[in-house]
Amino acid sequence: MAMRNPKTEPEYPIASPTYAHVVGWGMAVPENVMTNDDISAFVETNDEWIVARTGIKERRIASEDESTATLAYKAAQRALEIADILPIDLDLIVVATSTPENIFPSTASLVQDWLNASHAGAFDLSAACSGFVYALNMAADSIRAGSITTALVIGSETMSRILDWQDRSTCILFGDGAGAVVLQASKVEGGVLSSVLRSDGAGCDLLAIPSVGSIDADESRAGSNGHQLFKMYMVGSEVFKFATRVVNDSIDQATKLAGLDVSDIDLVIPHQANYRILQSAARKLKIDINKFMSNVDRYGNTSAASIPIALCEAIEQKRIHDKDHIALVGFGGGLTWASMIIQWGIPEPSQQQSSLINRQRRNILYYTAKWRSRSRRWRRRVNKTMEYLRPKRGRVPRLLRKVDEDDRL
Ligand code: UT7
Repeated sequence: MAMRNPKTEPEYPIASPTYAHVVGWGMAVPENVMTNDDISAFVETNDEWIVARTGIKERRIASEDESTATLAYKAAQRALEIADILPIDLDLIVVATSTPENIFPSTASLVQDWLNASHAGAFDLSAACSGFVYALNMAADSIRAGSITTALVIGSETMSRILDWQDRSTCILFGDGAGAVVLQASKVEGGVLSSVLRSDGAGCDLLAIPSVGSIDADESRAGSNGHQLFKMYMVGSEVFKFATRVVNDSIDQATKLAGLDVSDIDLVIPHQANYRILQSAARKLKIDINKFMSNVDRYGNTSAASIPIALCEAIEQKRIHDKDHIALVGFGGGLTWASMIIQWGIPEPSQQQSSLINRQRRNILYYTAKWRSRSRRWRRRVNKTMEYLRPKRGRVPRLLRKVDEDDRL
């Protein structure tokens, strides 16, 4: 029997490392387009100012039937299709959002239910426009640590619902949409190589949406600082300065952490806040602006959704190839900012074919999910009624109590 050489062979076999690769992607944006001219019909602004200061020409606005969860669900379905996996293969669903359906339950839990992803944990993550990179980092770390195998990471927003449409300094900037990726464990080297997450809470008053736990929710104090509950406010010029200060540094740090040089980056997929921020970062990093993916002209700022939407469009436009190094960078409320380097390592979309049988199985799961949820709610209602009507000693007093309550209403 061969003896172990203690100098070269460890006492216990070391498992080969696990990498976290993007294997599926999808996006969903509302059909309703709002142009700069449309906005100038109700606030004092104009197309020329908006294009010159931001690069934005139009944005998408959710219809009454659309919400953060429905957009997330659509983007998720497309991502599962490309990855060609079943919802039951998912271990984790994270939705990065600043416009969740509820404070709780999470938007991710709704998506989990609608997808019929019965083996997945689900939660929302709040890091404003950096949220998608934060969420992707959490999922990649869980995969590399071996605690999960497959994660669905979504950025989804209905910013139109939290805008003050009288405030021309913010309402021109934002739009609605969702983007999703499937992240999966693989022994193939590459995938998520590095991430740098940062926060500076001292800037919390520069960009915010006050919610129920806020001091602003106190009636006696409300209005003292002029902020409305559930409406976004921003000190644009300060956020602009912050963004132009951190974006290049953040990309630089993540690149070094991945053992690379900025010149190795093939494509930067930044948060789409303002085209001038991208120009500034490109200049400081000495990267050609053409290596910055931008679709801010068509969607505006979709907060946590902007990076996955831009990623989807970059793939569609064939701007990402096998082994390319991609830099993601997010920045926004918190203040927060985050960068990530990914080495692309899966087939291009044309090679990625969703098998017919899996597609049918997914459709069956989506269909049964709808019925399962509905029938559960129904059963709960029937049980409640049955309990109420159950002939027990206390039935008559209970009925009388009900009549009393109805009278009070
Ligand atoms: O996603 C989170 C991260 N968000 C960002 O990164 C956004 C960062 N900020 C920005 O992109 C820019 O600060 C804005 C686009 C929001 C504003 O551009 P700016 O060049 O910083 O303009 P400003 O706020 O300094 O305003 C300049 C002028 C002001 O008029 P006065 O005071 O100079 O007379 C504003 O009242 O432009 C005026 N203004 C407008 N004029 C026409 C502000 N908004 C508008 C508007 N149309 N919509």
